[in-house]
Amino acid sequence: MMVKNKIYSLPKVLSDNLEVHAKKFKPKALSQYIMRLSNIYQNEKKHTPWEDEGLKTAYLTYFLPLNYLRSQAVIDRIQKNNSLNAIGSFYEIGSGPGTSHFNFLLNNFNFESHFYEISKNAIACHKELLGALSLSSMPCTWETHSNRPESHLIEKNNALTLFCYSLNELNSLPAWVSNAHNILFIEPSTQVSSRELSLIRNQYLKLGFYALAPCTHQKPCPMITHSKKDWCHDRIHVKLPAWFEDIENHLPIKNNTLTFSYLFLSKTPPKAKLDHVARVIGDTQKQKGKTIQMICRGDKREFLSWVHKDKINQYIERGSLVQLPEDIELKSSELRMKKDIKCFS
Ligand SMILES: C[S@@+](CC[C@H](N)C(=O)[O-])C[C@H]1O[C@@H](n2cnc3c(N)ncnc32)[C@H](O)[C@@H]1O
Repeated sequence: MMVKNKIYSLPKVLSDNLEVHAKKFKPKALSQYIMRLSNIYQNEKKHTPWEDEGLKTAYLTYFLPLNYLRSQAVIDRIQKNNSLNAIGSFYEIGSGPGTSHFNFLLNNFNFESHFYEISKNAIACHKELLGALSLSSMPCTWETHSNRPESHLIEKNNALTLFCYSLNELNSLPAWVSNAHNILFIEPSTQVSSRELSLIRNQYLKLGFYALAPCTHQKPCPMITHSKKDWCHDRIHVKLPAWFEDIENHLPIKNNTLTFSYLFLSKTPPKAKLDHVARVIGDTQKQKGKTIQMICRGDKREFLSWVHKDKINQYIERGSLVQLPEDIELKSSELRMKKDIKCFS
């Protein structure tokens, strides 16, 4: 089977700038700071790395590149419907060193931007990197307190509000968020974080939002309705630069693939009816005589399936959208493919 996954990598300008930070430490020493920060993230929700030079460099050279690639994939997914073209302004809560800001700018999305970040040191890093990357940005503001953005601002200008790996550092989702026109969450792919996003989705549908991605429908999330343990998350394939691999060689984990969960909510309804479109939300699973792959297109827990004797040689990338033939055969929770189907990866 020919496997054709999109491979995500860092833009050269960003990689070169982050490499300068990486060179402040020997790869082995930096890997120890990365392990320390990783343990902190796993055990204490609220710690921020910005006051300690070693932990700050660990964030800039490890966590920033990985979050950049995750948010790049999410931008690609939501741009399948051109959802970002109409955005007029941008609000990010917990913006850290500007990971997503750089992502938007390097993708030529230049919004008037407002950043809410509790750490002054993180804001200083953001401003320094913005200068070092020589990116010309629309006017930006930064606020250090965790006060809510003014609702009259966030309601107008088709604003996008982003939480990227920050919701898990807040105690709960602030109530003002429902004033936003568009909300994007990018969060860890853990069972807890991902199921929390599915619950937020169900709750926000009742407040007049539409779930535009990864969901292709507005029905209750099947991960919650039909399972106590399943969770919706995505995976991408990545190739990191040589300087990153030098650090990674001292770590117990290798990042050939990255996982994440995401949710894009909007008060603007979906442009197209997606009756025969499904999102691929699982990896392929080989079973006796057939392969199955989890998809989502409504409130049922369903799988695409193909039997090996039919000699279907298609590889379907996780996270992509697939066009289902109208006459696809339904066998219990399986939609049985008889020939290759169209994918929008
Ligand atoms: C894991 S970092 C993510 C940073 C950035 N979004 C990224 O993807 O790289 C979470 C950030 O949220 C910030 N933060 C935590 N609690 C906050 C709050 N109540 N208000 C604003 N920022 C907060 C932290 O200082 C930290 O920079």
